[in-house]
Amino acid sequence: MKKITIAIDGFSSTGKSTIAKQLANALSYVYVDTGAMYRAITLFAIQSGFIGGKTFKKQALLKVLPSVQLRFVYNEALGYGEIFLNGVNVEKEIRTMEVSNKVSKIAAISEVRQLLVSQQKKMGKDKGIVMDGRDIGTVVFPDAELKIFMTASPEKRAMRRYKELLERGDDVNYDEVLKNVQDRDYIDSHREDSPLTQAEDAVAIDNSDMGLEEQFERVLSLANRIIEKA
Ligand code: DC
Repeated sequence: MKKITIAIDGFSSTGKSTIAKQLANALSYVYVDTGAMYRAITLFAIQSGFIGGKTFKKQALLKVLPSVQLRFVYNEALGYGEIFLNGVNVEKEIRTMEVSNKVSKIAAISEVRQLLVSQQKKMGKDKGIVMDGRDIGTVVFPDAELKIFMTASPEKRAMRRYKELLERGDDVNYDEVLKNVQDRDYIDSHREDSPLTQAEDAVAIDNSDMGLEEQFERVLSLANRIIEKA
C-alpha cells in the first residue's frame, strides 16, 4: 500500500502530539514532534547563556547553531522517538515552563526555522510520516496528502497543560499556564516567518468538547480513505 504524508498543525496544547502518535502507531508510520526540535534549540540557548532574564544573544546562538546536533532515537517502550540534544536525551528538560516561556522567541528566528525545516523535509522524503507542528502543512510539506488543523479554547488547552505539568510534579499555577498559552498563540500567529495559519486544504478539528477516541476515529478514517485512493 502506498504511504502518504500526514501534517498536523494547530495551537499549543490542542493534543496534536497525542493524535499524531496514535495515527503513527495505527499506520506504522514514523512520528516526528517538531515542537520538540524548537524546544531543544531553546534549551541549548538557555544552557549556553544565550537567552535568560533580559539577555538575548541572537548572533552568538546563530554562530554555533550549525554545530548543534538534534536526533530522534526510537524508544520501543514509549512507541516514539525521544529527542537527543548533542547526544543527550532531553525529552523531559524541554517541557519545563522555562523552555515554554522562551521557545516562541527562538522559533521566530528565520535562521533557526530554515535549519529545522530542512531537517524535517529530509525526515519525510520517503513519506509514511506523521509530523506535528505549526507550519507542517503550509511550509514543510505543502503537498501532504492529509492536513489536519487542531484548535480548542485557550482555557481548555491551559487546563490540559496544567494537569500534565502537575502530574509531572512541577510547581505551577493555572493562571501562569493560561498566560503562557495565550502569549504563545499571539507570538506564533503574528511572527513574520511562517506564522501559524491553517492551510487552505486542511481539515479543521475543534476538540474543545471532543473525546480522544472520537477524535482518533475521525482522523484515522480520513487517513484510511486517502491511503486507499493513493
Ligand atoms: O508544539 P509545542 O508546544 O511543543 O511547540 C513549541 C513551540 O515551538 C511553539 O510555541 C511554537 C514553536 N513551533 C514552531 O514554531 N513551529 C513548529 N513546526 C513547531 C513548533
